[in-house]
Amino acid sequence: MEFIKVNKAYAKHIALIQLNRPKELNALNLQLMGEIRDCLKELDQDDEVRVIIISGDERAFAAGADIKQMAGKSTIDMWKVDQFSTWDQINKTRKPIIAAVSGFALGGGCELAMTCDMIVASETAQFGQPEIKIGVMPGAGGTQRLTKALGKAKAMELVLTGKFISAEEALGYGLINKVVPVEVYLKEAVSLASEIAAMSPIAVQMAKEAVKRSFEVPLEEGLHFERKNFYMLFSSEDQKEGMNAFVEKRKPDFKGK
Ligand code: CAA
Repeated sequence: MEFIKVNKAYAKHIALIQLNRPKELNALNLQLMGEIRDCLKELDQDDEVRVIIISGDERAFAAGADIKQMAGKSTIDMWKVDQFSTWDQINKTRKPIIAAVSGFALGGGCELAMTCDMIVASETAQFGQPEIKIGVMPGAGGTQRLTKALGKAKAMELVLTGKFISAEEALGYGLINKVVPVEVYLKEAVSLASEIAAMSPIAVQMAKEAVKRSFEVPLEEGLHFERKNFYMLFSSEDQKEGMNAFVEKRKPDFKGK
């Protein structure tokens, strides 16, 4: 891996993917996104890993897709490479993904954070979709995910003016989960990840699947899907362990079986 660093033992059951193009503010070139895709695929199959964190560095989570790589491309070049198809894996990953964001999360960087399941941000984080300023528009989910999170009026303002919002504002809009001082944003993401990693990984993944489904299907279908997943969990050992531990007044020890 050239443009990401991966630590599978960052904390118990937690893997950290760190974007590693600091000089380019972690601009998301094709190779970097391919590395994220391959890495997520592998981590999703690794039973030791229960939660994944994606972070950048203090100055930038990511300042968007790599403009220099795209600048000279034609429509057919873009279509052939279909660069956003590598993003599908992020959406397909069953394990929860937390974005730990400091500094710039712009364009594709904002979209990458929004494609994750939760966002923990430092006070220095800035979110925005500035593609309009370079003659294009968001292409990796920004018009959809930002609108679902912020509502039409604010999303429209951000997408059409390219202006940024602070972490505090993003928190107010419900785009992110937490804002903490820059010194502890990664620690805070790990703490949230550890809380989730202590739960049954099967229940966590099925619950994540059901929450995500709520964005895609009508209520009745979503409720049906939720109920099916709930019933399915009764064939897991973790369900027996969790409920028995409650009855026996002890802490459950979930094995992911
Ligand atoms: N692509 C390629 N290189 C980038 C980049 C990007 N998205 N963002 C920053 N860089 C590079 C800069 O070119 C610069 O490189 P050099 O030192 O070689 O000149 C380096 O990173 C540092 O950047 P700046 O000197 O510009 O740093 P700054 O602090 O003055 O400004 C910034 C920071 C406001 C983030 C500014 O860099 C900027 O506006 N970046 C572009 C943001 C943007 O438009 N993102 C959207 C991209 S398109 C997209 O993402 C499409 C999509 O939907 C997926």
